[in-house]
Amino acid sequence: MAPRKPHILCIPAPAQGHINPMMNLAKLLHSHGFYITMVLTEFDFDRLSSSLAVDSPSLQELHDFIFETIPDGLPPGHTRGVLDLPELCVSLQGEPKKAFRGLLMKLLDSPDIPCITSMISDGAMPFAHEAGKELGIPVLLFFTTSACGMLGYMLYDELVKRGLFPLKDESCLTNGYLETPIDWVPGLIKGTKMKHLPTFLRTTDSNDTMFNYMAETARKAIGCEGMIMNTFDVLEGNVLEEIKTKIPNIYTIGPLSLLCQPVNVRELLPLRSDLWQEDTNCLEWLDKRGPKSVIYVNYGSLATLTPEQLEEFAWGLADSNLPFIWVIRPDLLEGGSSIVTEDYLEEIKERGFLSGWCPQEKVLQHPSIAVFLTHCGWNSTLESMSEGVPMICWPFFSEQQTNCLYACQEWKVGVEMEEGDVRREKVEGLVREMMKGEKGKELKRRAMEWKCKAEAATRPGGSSCNNFDKLVKDLLGKEN
Ligand code: UDX
Repeated sequence: MAPRKPHILCIPAPAQGHINPMMNLAKLLHSHGFYITMVLTEFDFDRLSSSLAVDSPSLQELHDFIFETIPDGLPPGHTRGVLDLPELCVSLQGEPKKAFRGLLMKLLDSPDIPCITSMISDGAMPFAHEAGKELGIPVLLFFTTSACGMLGYMLYDELVKRGLFPLKDESCLTNGYLETPIDWVPGLIKGTKMKHLPTFLRTTDSNDTMFNYMAETARKAIGCEGMIMNTFDVLEGNVLEEIKTKIPNIYTIGPLSLLCQPVNVRELLPLRSDLWQEDTNCLEWLDKRGPKSVIYVNYGSLATLTPEQLEEFAWGLADSNLPFIWVIRPDLLEGGSSIVTEDYLEEIKERGFLSGWCPQEKVLQHPSIAVFLTHCGWNSTLESMSEGVPMICWPFFSEQQTNCLYACQEWKVGVEMEEGDVRREKVEGLVREMMKGEKGKELKRRAMEWKCKAEAATRPGGSSCNNFDKLVKDLLGKEN
């Protein structure tokens, strides 16, 4: 006789910045009595298994939390180096789409597990959403980006209608065209320009894979049963109001990293979702540093640097003469493996700590951290604000440019380092300004205010906590 727990199937998009928030949400639902099936690609499941900390439970032994896999559709022998998003988006439409439908049918037929009551599909996985609907499973979408970034994607069709996309020719990338104001969207802040919208619009090709994939993703979200977002109401109120004109049922439950903290949940599975093995030595190193003395540098899971950019960052940090943790993912450098020279390591040995992948939330919580130099991925931005850490924003791609605009202009927790402007003097100057200057103090004060607001939203009675309770209630209502 199958147990009668409500069963939620969760499917994140295959990238770290999507898997982390989905895993947090799944663990929260599990702690509230739901049976969970988490669907990953075979490749990500293997990476997750081999990156588990020694004290982590094995993925096969978790109670009422199972993992299933689908292929990623990339051809045999593919190296799967740095994620090639357009290639992955195309490949997901083939074999994985079929395999996912087959998996759903198998799970629906299985007498050994509770019947699937709902599915939570990453908004960026439209095929999963469709398969669930075809098989009669109620589907909620989870958009793991900021609401301002999501609104940016929702404008893609309008850009085409207004003749703003595709770009007329390559010169538009440099001749000021991207400075075109976007002043016709209620909800977006004054001063928003084309260059602040998600970067997949920066092409002359009307058939561009990513532009069309994200436009379709946003289009398909309209009319969905409900959309979960990792943000909180006071942070993105105006933007959320605008999105709600098209998607009325939104559950804002962020920051998920705070909703998952022990003050809010006692019994959470001790499971992390890193695809790289984390190096915890940086925490001991941080213990030996003074309060608010260290700059933390990390570009998330997808950004890549040219050798020149890497060198400029390296010497900018070194020349600041201030202590820093610099995370250099094994695949961070475009097309190469040589990272930093012996001379450099000698130069920074007293004040620099280099790592391949770190426990970011713990690093940001550490009292020695003063500033975060970040690529403005949404998880990183929110985790930084949740810990009251101001940012140097160096957006790389997608909606990171929108996050950067909001962080610097609206929330006033960051200072921007322009995309094309990676010079060592610039890095050094911004680091000093943030660590020693008046601007740094002001941004720290603002960041601490946002930390308090984020904590208030995720505490019992707060907006995100209430919305999570409503989500649980609505998911339970879908039983039978
Ligand atoms: C991105 C962005 O979310 C988004 O802009 C875009 O849509 C595609 O995905 P990513 O570049 O990985 O993801 O950045 P981010 O959203 O910041 O997510 C990275 C996650 O990995 C964070 O939760 C961070 O805490 C974690 N991380 C990163 C670590 O735990 N250790 C590290 O060393 C680096």
